[in-house]
Amino acid sequence: MACVMLSLLYIISLSQGFSTEIIHRDSPNSPLFQSNLSTLKAFRRDIKTSRIRASNLISLSRKFGMENSAINLHANSLQLPLLLRSPLFTLDIGVGTPATKTTLVFDTAAPLTWTQCQPCVKCFKQDCPVFDPSKSVSFKRVRRNHTLARWFNCTVLECYYFVESRGGQSSDGIVSMDTFSFSGAKQQRLEDVVFGCGTYNHGPLGPQTTLTGLLGMGNFPTSLVGQFGNRAMHRFSYCLPELRSSRPRNSILSVGQEAVISGKNVQTTPFLKHPQGRKLVQDSYRLNLTGISVAGTTLEIPKGSLDGGCILDTGAPFSIIEEQAYEVVINAFSSYFAQFRNVKKITDRKYPKNLCYKYPRGFRNFPSMVLHFEEANLEINGTSLFMFGRNFFMANFICLQLLGEPKTNILGVYQQQNIRLLYDLGNDKLSFARDSC
Ligand SMILES: *[C@@H]1O[C@H](CO)[C@@H](O)[C@H](O)[C@H]1NC(C)=O
Ligand SMILES: *[C@@H]1O[C@H](CO)[C@@H](O)[C@H](O)[C@H]1NC(C)=O
Ligand SMILES: *[C@@H]1O[C@H](CO)[C@@H](O)[C@H](O)[C@H]1NC(C)=O
Ligand SMILES: *[C@@H]1O[C@H](CO)[C@@H](O)[C@H](O)[C@H]1NC(C)=O
Ligand SMILES: *[C@@H]1O[C@H](CO)[C@@H](O)[C@H](O)[C@H]1NC(C)=O
Repeated sequence: MACVMLSLLYIISLSQGFSTEIIHRDSPNSPLFQSNLSTLKAFRRDIKTSRIRASNLISLSRKFGMENSAINLHANSLQLPLLLRSPLFTLDIGVGTPATKTTLVFDTAAPLTWTQCQPCVKCFKQDCPVFDPSKSVSFKRVRRNHTLARWFNCTVLECYYFVESRGGQSSDGIVSMDTFSFSGAKQQRLEDVVFGCGTYNHGPLGPQTTLTGLLGMGNFPTSLVGQFGNRAMHRFSYCLPELRSSRPRNSILSVGQEAVISGKNVQTTPFLKHPQGRKLVQDSYRLNLTGISVAGTTLEIPKGSLDGGCILDTGAPFSIIEEQAYEVVINAFSSYFAQFRNVKKITDRKYPKNLCYKYPRGFRNFPSMVLHFEEANLEINGTSLFMFGRNFFMANFICLQLLGEPKTNILGVYQQQNIRLLYDLGNDKLSFARDSC
């Protein structure tokens, strides 16, 4: 276990930007990597994670009274344990001078970055030493006169935060500032980043003990991207590669002026506006989903199914479509495949509601799906739409990587593969383009 960060060369300021790697849990470089998971086991795990994530995102927004009535979860719809946590993306960041290595969960719904901190009143187990502010020469406390202090509870000497995320897990502590260092193509240091120094933490963030906290990238002034105050630089981007590849590549997260997108295929759609309360709450980026097409046909989506928008998420592996709309989508795929005599529906006994098909060698007529957003269309096909597997008898099969849940629409991680996404918070819009990431 390497607990040390490399020495650093460049100093950058918060008005510029940086790039660093985010690592998916199915990459051998990830602390969450499970080496011997079969395709089908991984698929079932991804189903579970997607459903847990959906319930967490919704139960939290409801708890804080910020929910849109359209995404209110039926109380009994999910039987899954809320406390099961399954982060997908992590990244390593050095905190302080000299840098202490922290391994954080990348979360686009979280309003504040935090890591466990000394003196720990309550810390969950972590492998590397817990960050100790008294050993960092660049550590500072955020005071009442800081521009972000209004989001916290402050006394004359210091400010306190409390954040809760992912089904019951929380962090409580002192709002701090220190230098963050990122290893990327070049070594980069960002000074005076505001983060939570968590001395009272409920976790852990997963079964692994490598994780120390969370990187908050939510649409909130106190998140890491929110701190890039200059409006033009108020943005971040990433491009997720093929996640089930046998040789997975890491993704680059770029923040500030390093986050760019270009080319003639770029499409842009606004984020849905949402009321911003006074509290630090988990809240997601939402898009205005206006329709769905399957195999070239625009579907008749039941009224109200797409209200409340579509959450753009990096915590759910699979996209989730509101259950009534999901029925329509599934029927469209079923009638598409019904025209091929040698393509046969199969049932996964664990997830009978999932759509899987056995197909003969050489079959290539896989359909695509288009999500119609306000002013932009996202075509989803190939491995972004289907899990391609081989069963025990070496027969080829596919399973649709979409789930239906009550009153929820989420654009998940598999459906974001090989697309460059630019979250432009200054202009309240998302730009995206197909790319080979
Ligand atoms: C797979 O991993 C699990 C848990 O780490 C272990 O118990 C099991 O023996 C492994 N199976 C194989 C085939 O390596
Ligand atoms: C806030 O107050 C502290 C202590 O009085 C002072 O050292 C610091 O420079 C002030 N910061 C700002 C941004 O005014
Ligand atoms: C501030 O304190 C109040 C009362 O203890 C609490 O309800 C609120 O969540 C706290 N706010 C923050 C940002 O920690
Ligand atoms: C979503 O987009 C549609 C089509 O452009 C528009 O009519 C509708 O008002 C938008 N909804 C919201 C909530 O902005
Ligand atoms: C998926 O659709 C894109 C167009 O959006 C196309 O360029 C690409 O070749 C398609 N991929 C597959 C596997 O059909």
